[in-house]
Amino acid sequence: MKEDTDLRKDFPILNQEINGKPLIYLDNAATTQKPQAVIDRLSDFLSKENANIHRGVHYLSMNATTLYDEARTCVANFINADHNDEIIFVRGATEAINLVARSFCNERLEPGDEILITEMEHHANIVPWQLIAGENGSRVVPAPITDEGETDLDQFESLLNERTKLVAFVHVSNALGTINPAKEMVEIAHRKGIPVLIDGAQAVAHQEVDVQDLGCDFYVFSSHKIFGPDGLGVLYGRKDLLNKMTPYQGGGDMIEIVSFDGTTFRPSPERFEAGTPNISGAIGLKAAIDYVTNIGWETIHKKESLLMNHANKLLGEIPSIKLVGTAENKVPVLSFTIDSVHPHDIATILDTKGIAVRAGHHCAQPLMKRLGLSATTRASLTFYNTVDEINQLTETLKEICALFES
Ligand code: ALA
Repeated sequence: MKEDTDLRKDFPILNQEINGKPLIYLDNAATTQKPQAVIDRLSDFLSKENANIHRGVHYLSMNATTLYDEARTCVANFINADHNDEIIFVRGATEAINLVARSFCNERLEPGDEILITEMEHHANIVPWQLIAGENGSRVVPAPITDEGETDLDQFESLLNERTKLVAFVHVSNALGTINPAKEMVEIAHRKGIPVLIDGAQAVAHQEVDVQDLGCDFYVFSSHKIFGPDGLGVLYGRKDLLNKMTPYQGGGDMIEIVSFDGTTFRPSPERFEAGTPNISGAIGLKAAIDYVTNIGWETIHKKESLLMNHANKLLGEIPSIKLVGTAENKVPVLSFTIDSVHPHDIATILDTKGIAVRAGHHCAQPLMKRLGLSATTRASLTFYNTVDEINQLTETLKEICALFES
């Protein structure tokens, strides 16, 4: 296992200056940086091993097919899926949710039916359901959250009824950092026989995910949020459900027999992977998962809690800063506002000091409305960040407060 101080050196992008200052990258919830191991793996694949999969009997094609299959096995093991066939490679978490909306919900929803989500969802876990609901007279119902940014479990349970055909909720909130009690929420829904999709986009880089332990029916995440390449995401689905679902897209590689009279489809995962997939992306994701696994969750948790406690303490000592999202159980995402300073101005000033954060509604407009805000500034951390970077963020925020208060 690598020592904590060595980990930062694995990320070449961090070793540069932005606006004349050493880069302090605190926008990990938007996308994570890539370790050299992932960069090298992609470069090796593209320079020595590139070929299309499933289509050739020549060496490179067969080898690429093996590598792609190994990537699927790696993902299955990483989230403890029962079988490789339960892992479908898509473009991202967003596409995975759209796939489920189209292929699972479309045929099951009737007028008056409901899909239960929560008030803290990312637009990716709202809009796909609204699109489907709009087509067949069903509706999307949000379960309320508390002022601290936690799902109100009593209200969540009370909103489940015989019209609820799916529950879809975020494992970890991108805007607040809240970790939802996912296993408990799945149990509540399953007691009423309702299937559950979990949006794990912000969870997979911060904690071990075990889909069998969670008991969920679908789980989605994106490679780029876990130190892998962008343009690649994962849909986990229970095999018995996947093989009953109508394909989302048609094309090559997903068929058994095609004739002008009709087409039969292969089982999952090919059923949902029409056309040439993102082969290099899957291979890069495997390298990223191997990298994270090699570090180990214990090291990651230890570093992240050190950073979060330090940041909470320092930001909590600045009177003008209001932290948004104070759930008891959260990942190191610090959303905040400063009285009388617009979040975009804060982010722009931080950028002049080389500090990268995100400002805005974080693709969660209904959440912002619920909290009575239009936007926040968000610093999202990971294990390669340092205590010194938090100190520099705090000093700059103090300067901003002084500037606008004077
Ligand atoms: N969903 C990503 C974020 O929260 C883009 O920044």
